[in-house]
Amino acid sequence: MSERLASFDKDPSLRGIPNRKLINLYEKWAHGNFGMLLTGNVIVHPTHLEGGGNMVVCQENDTPELRSWFKKLAEAMKSNGSLAVAQISDAGINTPSSIDQSPWAPSDRCKETHQKPNSDAHVLTEEEIETLVIPRYVYAAKFLYECGFDGIELHSAPISLLSHFLSAEMNNRNDSYGGSIVRRMKIFEELESNIRAALPEDIKFLIGVKIHKNLFLKDNKLMKKECKMAARMFDKLGYDFIEATGSSGLVGYRGNKDNNLIDQDYNDYIDEFKKLPHNYTLYLTGKFREAKKMVDALEDGGVQGIGLGRPATAEPDIADKILSGKVKTAKPNALDEETAVVQVMAAASQIWDIAQTPYNPDDSLSSGIVDFSNEALAGNFKNELMKYMRKSAEMELRLEPAVGIFHFRP
Ligand SMILES: Cc1cc2nc3c(=O)[nH]c(=O)nc-3n(C[C@H](O)[C@H](O)[C@H](O)COP(=O)(O)O)c2cc1C
Repeated sequence: MSERLASFDKDPSLRGIPNRKLINLYEKWAHGNFGMLLTGNVIVHPTHLEGGGNMVVCQENDTPELRSWFKKLAEAMKSNGSLAVAQISDAGINTPSSIDQSPWAPSDRCKETHQKPNSDAHVLTEEEIETLVIPRYVYAAKFLYECGFDGIELHSAPISLLSHFLSAEMNNRNDSYGGSIVRRMKIFEELESNIRAALPEDIKFLIGVKIHKNLFLKDNKLMKKECKMAARMFDKLGYDFIEATGSSGLVGYRGNKDNNLIDQDYNDYIDEFKKLPHNYTLYLTGKFREAKKMVDALEDGGVQGIGLGRPATAEPDIADKILSGKVKTAKPNALDEETAVVQVMAAASQIWDIAQTPYNPDDSLSSGIVDFSNEALAGNFKNELMKYMRKSAEMELRLEPAVGIFHFRP
């Protein structure tokens, strides 16, 4: 989950440097007994951020200091036996105009859907994809490998350039990178092979991808054949894992709300990835709160893991509590019925709570985290957030980037 805790500076080469707070955060999560820890989006271009404070890895900001922080981060993530995986991304047209006014897009359709007053997306040529885009992901993956990470996840869920390539609705190119699902996936083929080629042959470095149900929608219909084809291709290309989302209740790909876990489209989409005999590890992320539902999803077959987002911001040791049987469900949250923005911002604020203090084996991992099961606190949070949102919208119009997140202090 995006932390927005790293450095942000006018000078792009000074952006995205991790710090002690990020180490605190991941060291605590490491002790929460998760099998694999994933970072929030680590951006591969210094101006293509999802928000001010994202971690960034690219040639422009590569220094011994940056490497030393990423090494510490990998160590913190692995300090209790979890795998450390970095999610790498370019935010594409979702970059705020205050940070970049000419973000990358795969096609005119994508550019038209996301017109912003101060931004004019640049539609990438084939040559630019090969010489500018792919090399950035390869650079970041190699850097992260050298810093001790166990793998990378390509961010192709909403709010990423790669998701715009994968989506039939956003990618209407008519060259080798657009059109059919096979062509829309060409970039994933090249990313996988170029990343592997840049790494030593005899190592195991995980390459995964995060996808979302809405990437397979056209005119509001799920294209099951495309899901099947994508599953086959990711498998054949040698992707180690797929994290599939689309049931979270957060804002979906085109601004629509996702449905819940019983949404038929979601089940049909997941089925295609489940039923194919596969070598990839399939993780499902989104709205898992009860242990029983997690177990059911695993026992149904074809699924090898469950991903947790928001439950882990309220309780960094939720995996431990569920695996050991101490609890059967994640903590309730009084903001669960609120808009996606409110829910995400509340979780982001909890991420900042966790990051404030170092891991202390004698203290509870949840110590210092605002408890949003408390209705009064949740109401207070919402009021303060609205003020912050108004202020940051005004800043965006003045092209002043809002750095970090709204950190609620009751
Ligand atoms: C604060 C916050 C930040 C997030 N940042 C990212 C991100 O950087 N990359 C990503 O793929 N998903 C991101 N997500 C989505 C989560 O990874 C996850 O898919 C989603 O929250 C659904 O899981 P949950 O219902 O367990 O929260 C974020 C979610 C939250 C709440």
